[in-house]
Amino acid sequence: MTVRLLQLTDCHLFVSPEATIQGICTRERWLSVLAAIAPEQSRAQRLILTGDMTHDDLPETYRVVRETLAGWWPQARFVPGNHDVREGIYEHLHDRIQRVAERVVFSEPVEGWQLIGLDSHLPGQVKGELGGEQLAWLADELSRTANRPTVLFVHHPPVDAPSAWMNAIGLTDRDALWTLLRSHAQVRLICAGHVHHESATLRQGVLVVTTPATGVQFTPESETLVVDDLPWGYRLVELHDDGTFQTRVVRLPLRTVCVPLAPA
Ligand SMILES: [Fe+2]
Repeated sequence: MTVRLLQLTDCHLFVSPEATIQGICTRERWLSVLAAIAPEQSRAQRLILTGDMTHDDLPETYRVVRETLAGWWPQARFVPGNHDVREGIYEHLHDRIQRVAERVVFSEPVEGWQLIGLDSHLPGQVKGELGGEQLAWLADELSRTANRPTVLFVHHPPVDAPSAWMNAIGLTDRDALWTLLRSHAQVRLICAGHVHHESATLRQGVLVVTTPATGVQFTPESETLVVDDLPWGYRLVELHDDGTFQTRVVRLPLRTVCVPLAPA
């Protein structure tokens, strides 16, 4: 049976529904993505939110995440990004996460596959880090489930970004992750966020993809942060019984504004 997953990332919500980033209302875009994926609710086995759920760093914003995802609750899983606050996740999303020490993770079989979420949040920093304790936990999980093709979900992508400013805020211990993965060839795909644009990189036979934010998009190759006018979106992943997979980004159609003609 094919496993169907949705990855949503970097929604950057505020408690205030009207709040904006660079003139963009992140709540409005988040709700537009949820409306677009509503038909998937009956057939997608998981919806994974890969971090930067809040932008205002307020624990109450996780109540908004929970309320807006109410219809998806059985399938919802979460890992934190740099903008997240673990206390808010513990309080409001506690029944859809696992904890390894202070880290917010998950690891579970879905059909013949294993899905593992990693926590790259480094308090007070924009860059990310997995840390030795979490990498040891990951090694144990991968050894325990060695016969299952596996997908990892993590906020900070463990590959080079196309610009220096993004690399400076990347995953600091990604080389340790790749060293670990040399002993665990079942990992097929890594889904990340953080860079607010779509990309695909093959490393050690593992496809690493980044997914557009549900809110603000960043131009990939620029010297500083530049907001891109590409439509926002999400990622669809299909995992097949034979260990192969397919994935693609879905972007929302740009809204057409219809202005009624004035009467003649
Ligand atoms: Fe973000």
